[in-house]
Amino acid sequence: MMEHNSELGTRGAAGVTMHSLSKAFEVDEGTETVFEEININIEPGSFVSLVGRSGSGKSTLLNILSGILEPTTGRVSYTVDDPEIGHVFQSPRLLPWESCVKNIEYVHENNPEYTDDIAKKYLDMVGLSDHYNKYPNGLSGGQRQRVGIARAFSIDPEVLLMDEPFSNLDEITAEELREELVELWSNFDKTIIFVTHNITEAIQLSDRILMIGGGEIYGDIEIPIERPRTVDNDEFIEFQREAIQKFRSVE
Ligand SMILES: Nc1ncnc2c1ncn2[C@@H]1O[C@H](COP(=O)(O)OP(=O)(O)OP(=O)(O)O)[C@@H](O)[C@H]1O
Ligand SMILES: [Mg+2]
Repeated sequence: MMEHNSELGTRGAAGVTMHSLSKAFEVDEGTETVFEEININIEPGSFVSLVGRSGSGKSTLLNILSGILEPTTGRVSYTVDDPEIGHVFQSPRLLPWESCVKNIEYVHENNPEYTDDIAKKYLDMVGLSDHYNKYPNGLSGGQRQRVGIARAFSIDPEVLLMDEPFSNLDEITAEELREELVELWSNFDKTIIFVTHNITEAIQLSDRILMIGGGEIYGDIEIPIERPRTVDNDEFIEFQREAIQKFRSVE
């Protein structure tokens, strides 16, 4: 499982810059401002977690980064022109009437060089070699999430956005997938922006944590802990304590 195939993932990583990003929605009661004036620079190849309470604007921000939503003001720039952006959602959004292989194939509709072998290689990479032709409802939740991850990596994105991808899984499966994700990230040169409300998960995975709340990024902390990281050592626990304090400092 998880072997790095040198033919895969050659496109590399892109940096992301958010320039004065603001987003407001028009709702019945008037205008709801989600956040204002976000200015953040994300290094190519880094693993950044975005944490915040429910409703703080995490998904909205990811949707702006991937172009699903337009910001109200400001803009996003990337260090490469027209980057490929992968987006993994909280539920993997698979087509129930298609097999795993076909679920990957459909995001490659416009690529004449695409063959089933590509889907299979990415499915191998996430440990699904025995399940190529299964349909989503014949897979466990963790396996479905793996298909979503394989599909996102299969487009060889410079930036991979992940919106609480493991929050619906049991802790043991989530832990397994976290380890696999870190391994994929270190084998492939990708920028990952990972949304979670789980601080421990954020510290385990990332180089840097951005905290969003009260309409702004109120926390921006580097994680100096060496990898591989274990959640039960003193350094981790101490770091976690401080991060949780900071996290709670905003209503
Ligand atoms: N299309 C929309 N129209 C109006 N308001 C919206 C829309 N999308 C999001 N919002 C509002 O923007 C705010 C942020 O929503 P968002 O989904 O980004 O939160 P989140 O941080 O991802 O929360 P969660 O952790 O629950 O997923 C919420 O108050 C939400 O109601
Ligand atoms: Mg959300």
